[in-house]
Amino acid sequence: MEIIIVKNYNEMSKKAASIMESVIREKEDCVLGLPTGSTPIGVYEELVRMHKEEGLSFEKVRTVNLDEYVGLEESNDQSYRYFMNNNLFDKVNIDKKNTNVPNGMKEDIHAECERYEEVINKMDGIDIQLLGIGNNGHIGFNEPDEELNVNTSLVVLKEDTIEANSRFFKNRSEVPKEAISMGIGTIMRAKRILLVANGKNKAKALHALISGKITTNNPASILQLHSNVTLVIDEEAASLF
Ligand code: GLP
Repeated sequence: MEIIIVKNYNEMSKKAASIMESVIREKEDCVLGLPTGSTPIGVYEELVRMHKEEGLSFEKVRTVNLDEYVGLEESNDQSYRYFMNNNLFDKVNIDKKNTNVPNGMKEDIHAECERYEEVINKMDGIDIQLLGIGNNGHIGFNEPDEELNVNTSLVVLKEDTIEANSRFFKNRSEVPKEAISMGIGTIMRAKRILLVANGKNKAKALHALISGKITTNNPASILQLHSNVTLVIDEEAASLF
């Protein structure tokens, strides 16, 4: 595992974006696995800047997102499809047909999970999966539990995740209780994983990630089994290393 510790959020965003850039420049039709959350916003801003100022092209790039809430329309500003359009897709020359986010409005969520897993399987691998991490060590929406899902699945969110994500909603009762998330296996099949994190809230989860032990109580700890993982984290997030 490669660990890059940077001073602050700005440096984290720039470093991670430059790694994403090198993948895109090397393979114009690469597959990017993408996260939401507040952490990757700076990475997306930097990629948009590279598109506008340095000719970075997304024309043939394909994307798959990690997760989506169940029950939020695309037009809801808290849906992850809305987030991706707003922070990246509408600001670069990507073909929206090449972007994939699970559809949390489908009546048959299990069928949607299967469809989504199939979309990813047909892509011949995710070239780079960008990840954030939850305070409790979740990746995507794979929450700490006795068992973890291998493939894309319907997940019930933990109370601490609902609490953490309630800051984006008018009140806590509006936070969806369920989501569709790539499974741990879906994430681990990516050719390369790039995890970004900043701030003290993430220090404990990151410590578990380099502990040398794997536990379903910290889903991110399984990344220790992947052969190509880069962490780009700031000093506060690395404070327990
Ligand atoms: C959400 C997302 C995760 C993300 C996490 C951390 O729950 N499903 O993919 O990594 O939150 O969010 P933040 O970056 O805002 O701390």
